[in-house]
Amino acid sequence: MTKKRALITGILGQDGSYLAEFLLSKGYEVFGMVRRSSVERYDRIAHIKDNLTLLQGDLLDQYSLTQAVKDSDPVEVYNLAAQSFVPTSWNQPVLTGEFTALGVTRLLEAIRQVSPEVRFYQASSSECFGSAKPPQNENTPFHPKSPYGIAKVYAFWITVNYRESYGMWNCNGILFNHESPRRGMEFVTRKVSDGVARIKLGLAKELRLGNLDAKRDWGFAGDFIKAMWLMLQQPRPDDYVIGTGIANSVRELCEVAFSHVGLDWKKYVKVDKKLFRPAEVDYLVADASKAKRVLGWKPKVSFKQLIAMMVDADLARLKANGGKK
Ligand code: NAP
Ligand code: GDD
Repeated sequence: MTKKRALITGILGQDGSYLAEFLLSKGYEVFGMVRRSSVERYDRIAHIKDNLTLLQGDLLDQYSLTQAVKDSDPVEVYNLAAQSFVPTSWNQPVLTGEFTALGVTRLLEAIRQVSPEVRFYQASSSECFGSAKPPQNENTPFHPKSPYGIAKVYAFWITVNYRESYGMWNCNGILFNHESPRRGMEFVTRKVSDGVARIKLGLAKELRLGNLDAKRDWGFAGDFIKAMWLMLQQPRPDDYVIGTGIANSVRELCEVAFSHVGLDWKKYVKVDKKLFRPAEVDYLVADASKAKRVLGWKPKVSFKQLIAMMVDADLARLKANGGKK
């Protein structure tokens, strides 16, 4: 039997690595699009790299996207590539729009020209909701608060528009924050887990953070990528909110992470006004009842288990490599 073929953009990122593992376990032939770099950055997929086919391509470059779709000839495309760090979107607003918004149109055009029957997943974001009243679901109006959130709103609607205009099989997964030991170092959960591990091992004395009052619905990335796949297995394309339904503040995140290693967070966390954002998203929490009802999806890992997993992984990493990043 021929294997199902899937193309993942952003395969070197946190979600791309978990999704690639998952699709391989389901028997897929997995293609990953990566942008050219002068150094190899395969840390997250090193353990599965020999089972993947990597194709060079960039969201800025129409030809390379068309070629990636032609070369992989997929039945499913997962568009995970994006400039994904919210603060960077104020420093590089145009580039963020090029990658995170227009990049989606370029990819959809490539699919429309080459294989319009492809099932397409777009990595939409709870940042689209911004200041909308919690809990947020598929009917909540968007009010994004950052250039990143605004680019994701465009990406959401172009995905819907190509479904409505051309009958393409497009889904948006509106995912709330999801984390793991593979999370990028600049995101707050990983910054905290790494900071706690460093303080515990005597490698650092304090942890500087911004707004401690912000609330997020934090889940485990390994649970969330299953929802992406489930969306593409349905009889019809649709859009789904994915989250745990439980919010915690950054302050609560600190409490849980420090207490996991027997430390009092108040002695180590320093608030640094320079880390506050020009506009903040105060409170995100998912109402994922549609995903539960239609996809049968629910998360397995709790917030406390997630943070313990991340702190333990950073402790083990720092012990093994002598404190290097
Ligand atoms: P991530 O770790 O930052 O990974 C993003 C990937 O996109 C990286 O591999 C990056 O490549 C690639 N990329 C960036 N610009 C590109 C370009 N111009 N051309 C080709 N590839 C490019 O992000 P993630 O956490 O896995 O998130 C995956 C997706 O879900 C993103 O679209 C993100 O915005 C969205 N999302 C994430 C969350 C979350 O909580 N994690 C929630 C909602 C939505 P390099 O490795 O070369 O940098
Ligand atoms: N990064 C960071 N660093 N955030 C901090 C810090 C800090 O030192 N101190 C407080 N925070 C607060 C931020 O102000 C924000 O309210 C919250 O912690 C979460 O920040 P991030 O972890 O950077 O994530 P995010 O919510 O802005 O964005 C992530 O989730 C989105 C989905 O809601 C990213 O993964 C996006 O790509 C994703 O779309």
